[in-house]
Amino acid sequence: MMCFQYFKDKTRSRQQRSAPELKEQSKSDYSGTQRISKSSCLETTPRGIPELYEEKAHNLRVFSFSELRHATHDFNRLLKIGEGGFGSVYKGSIKPADGNGDPIVVAIKKLDNDGLQGHKQWVAEVQFLGVVEHPNLVKLFGYCAADGERGIQRLLVYEFMPNKSLDDHLFNRAYPALPWKTRLQIILGAAQGLAYLHDGLEIQVIYRDFKCSNVLLDENFKPKLSDFGLAREGPVAGRTHVSTAVMGTYGYAAPDYIETGHLTTKSDVWSFGVVLYEIITGRRSLERNRPRVEQKLLEWVKQFPSDSKKFRLIIDTRLENQYSIATARKIAKLADACLLKSAKDRPKMSQVVESLNQIIQDSDEEANISQESFESSEIDSSESSKKPNQLEATESWKRRMTHLAKLGEHVEGASRRRFMIMQRAKVP
Ligand SMILES: Nc1ncnc2c1ncn2[C@@H]1O[C@H](COP(=O)(O)OP(=O)(O)OP(=O)(O)O)[C@@H](O)[C@H]1O
Ligand SMILES: [Mg+2]
Repeated sequence: MMCFQYFKDKTRSRQQRSAPELKEQSKSDYSGTQRISKSSCLETTPRGIPELYEEKAHNLRVFSFSELRHATHDFNRLLKIGEGGFGSVYKGSIKPADGNGDPIVVAIKKLDNDGLQGHKQWVAEVQFLGVVEHPNLVKLFGYCAADGERGIQRLLVYEFMPNKSLDDHLFNRAYPALPWKTRLQIILGAAQGLAYLHDGLEIQVIYRDFKCSNVLLDENFKPKLSDFGLAREGPVAGRTHVSTAVMGTYGYAAPDYIETGHLTTKSDVWSFGVVLYEIITGRRSLERNRPRVEQKLLEWVKQFPSDSKKFRLIIDTRLENQYSIATARKIAKLADACLLKSAKDRPKMSQVVESLNQIIQDSDEEANISQESFESSEIDSSESSKKPNQLEATESWKRRMTHLAKLGEHVEGASRRRFMIMQRAKVP
């Protein structure tokens, strides 16, 4: 097993100001062995994440703790936008790197002070996000490592994603239901992000934590994967897997990985299959508050095969019938392939992207045909009006989202005002 350890440079000031130094603790996965290169399994390269990180680390900004404290008004709870298993996320604003121009809105994750595990996650995130670059992966602006009076502080500064996560839009009833077409676009973007990690780099990256809450959405609902704390470099050439301690999120981790600790890109493919069923059903992979037979999503959907009549019964009722059943069946079939028991039988993410592109293209054509026939058959207008088409649904949903965002701005404005009032109240 390989892991990295953080080495503090005692010659530096108390507030760490340079790139984190990363050292391999065990060389078993690296030394003298050849890596699988992106272009061909025959070509090899000696470079791994630490080398690539060395090359690209200069792109990352190193923030002082006081800069980030200032950016978040001392980590004010009114600026807290989320909380995960490893820390809290705040909205903040920082100065541009050259000091000129408007402040940049960012998301700042402050890891809990829980010692080695938190630190390992932070190192992995800095390393992987420092190396990768893709429109479907969240951008890391920089980080902060400060060992001061307040103890060990580890923070990450990301681009701000204004539309929360896929998890919020699929499962939180406070948001309008996500239209079918938008679900398909989001899942395609997420698949492209994963395919890039698996095949688009000099090294292979296994993400290990694919789930709806790690799919963040930008102002146009374009998805970006976040959270690289559990990411691992893929196996070296000649090996089939990486051996690791089993980590991830219950309900998403592949059973073969849980059983053996053998991690491959196909473990991500399994998690992707779980999320496909989540977008079809609008249910989480695990819901304890449901009747026993419905608690585990994958067990429940097995009773409703994609080619059966009763398949319709599992489709998210919040879609209010505004989806294409033919497309939903194809998505379920793809999910079943991703969820095959034997990891090697699952498709590669690049094949999943291909299939999704085809499914979406077919679905658009189908929508165009039905739109044309809808327009040309104004004969039975009362009947037609009972079948609102998908495009209209997406438009009306977009209008509702814009309205909601406007309301959000007011709420934010109000909390900012509350915050300023609190600040003023503190002034003696
Ligand atoms: N770059 C970002 N821009 C905007 N919001 C973000 C950003 N990163 C995280 N968030 C918000 O913070 C929440 C918490 O994120 P975090 O990754 O810490 O936890 P999680 O994904 O919910 O759970 P887990 O710790 O299991 O991954 C996210 O769900 C999202 O709403
Ligand atoms: Mg997360």
